[in-house]
Amino acid sequence: MSNEIVIQKKIRPFKKKIHISGDKSISIRWILFASLATGVSTAKNLLMSDDVFATLNAIKKLGIKIKIKDDECKIFGKGIDGYKYKKNIVIDAKNSGTLGRLLLGLLINTTHPIKIIGDKSLSKRDFKRISDPLSKFGAKFKLNKKKNLPLLISGSKNLQPINYIEKKGSAQCKSAVLFGGMLTEGTTTIKAKKSRNHSEILCKYLKLPISIKKNKKYDEIKIKKVKKIRNLNYNIPADISSSSFFIVLTALTENSKIIIKNVNINPSRIGIITILKKMGIKIIFKNIKIYKGERIADINVESPKSIKSINCPSRLNSSAIDEFLVIFLVAAKANGVSHFKNLEELNQKESPRLKWGEKILNSMGIKTIVSRNSIKIFGNPNLKINKNITIKNYLKDHRVFMTSVVAAYTFGGNWQINDKDSIQSSFPNFLKIISKFKKK
Ligand code: S3P
Repeated sequence: MSNEIVIQKKIRPFKKKIHISGDKSISIRWILFASLATGVSTAKNLLMSDDVFATLNAIKKLGIKIKIKDDECKIFGKGIDGYKYKKNIVIDAKNSGTLGRLLLGLLINTTHPIKIIGDKSLSKRDFKRISDPLSKFGAKFKLNKKKNLPLLISGSKNLQPINYIEKKGSAQCKSAVLFGGMLTEGTTTIKAKKSRNHSEILCKYLKLPISIKKNKKYDEIKIKKVKKIRNLNYNIPADISSSSFFIVLTALTENSKIIIKNVNINPSRIGIITILKKMGIKIIFKNIKIYKGERIADINVESPKSIKSINCPSRLNSSAIDEFLVIFLVAAKANGVSHFKNLEELNQKESPRLKWGEKILNSMGIKTIVSRNSIKIFGNPNLKINKNITIKNYLKDHRVFMTSVVAAYTFGGNWQINDKDSIQSSFPNFLKIISKFKKK
């Protein structure tokens, strides 16, 4: 089967109601918490994607039983010390930074060294940001080229609590240390720049010994050794990051409306909503409710008459970090020049995304000025593409693929986009949903 998609038609104006699959961050965290719980935990609407399957396989290797039937997943947790550390365990985190990094926090007491490997993209990413703080607990690491996968983690019997300052706004760093703290006698203190807080919300919901002091820019988190986690049944809400492709599809298709049902709108995840509203897109949350500490709503979007450029405040960077590529498409259609800055973390993702944003926009005929950590996008409200565009060799970054598909369906042109199986990481039914929209 060909692994490329060819798109030569735009999408027609639409009015639709859609359902998006489960949130990836919450799915992975649910699995990790459930694997340490005492008793059986059940999840509905767990994201069935490669990153999530890799997480399930990881806990299986650590001796935890799993059953999946239809869209229900059961995990038979054996308690906080329930992992079985055999000799020569190799865990393949595949494409998932979240799995590779968060899991390390739970392995700092392993009795045998464990090897972590990943795919080509993950093997280029920085793991020193995790091994540095986790070493302070007493675990030992051997990293390829001192910072990459494959790595070997050796646990310690004498874990010491740590004080950790997280400056990047990385939820993966924060969560890995939080997990380390959950296994360590004493109080671990984390001062973390704001980032997604699903791990902390789960800790609170499960009544684990956590306290959080919220400051304007930083959260101060204290966590003590966890004795027991009760089982956790969870109905996973839809993923705002996956939803964002359809939010932008709507914003860029004239006279269109969409309702996306039951989406996680945790304030630490909705930077894209704040940014797009500032750019003139009409977005409303309806049926807001709180579910196990997480905020959920139906997202209603309407395409605007015109789009305003934005000088994007950097304080929104962390809460929109996975959405910038697709936000750049909205800037491409804006009146005027948009500026996004302090985005060095964007080049730390599945591919160097600031560079890929530039490549996609330039191939569409949009002028950009890019630095190490910023991009200026010269919007063109009348942009119509009539040429051939090929997108390939992007390390199979799922968000590069889906952004290119949205660009093709909204700006026109003849697009050939390689590696469509990249969507398996986060959003396997992306193309199936988009196939239901009528084309011109
Ligand atoms: C994630 C955190 C973010 C995000 C990633 C998922 C998480 O990464 O980009 O897709 O679930 O914790 P960083 O922590 O590296 O910013």
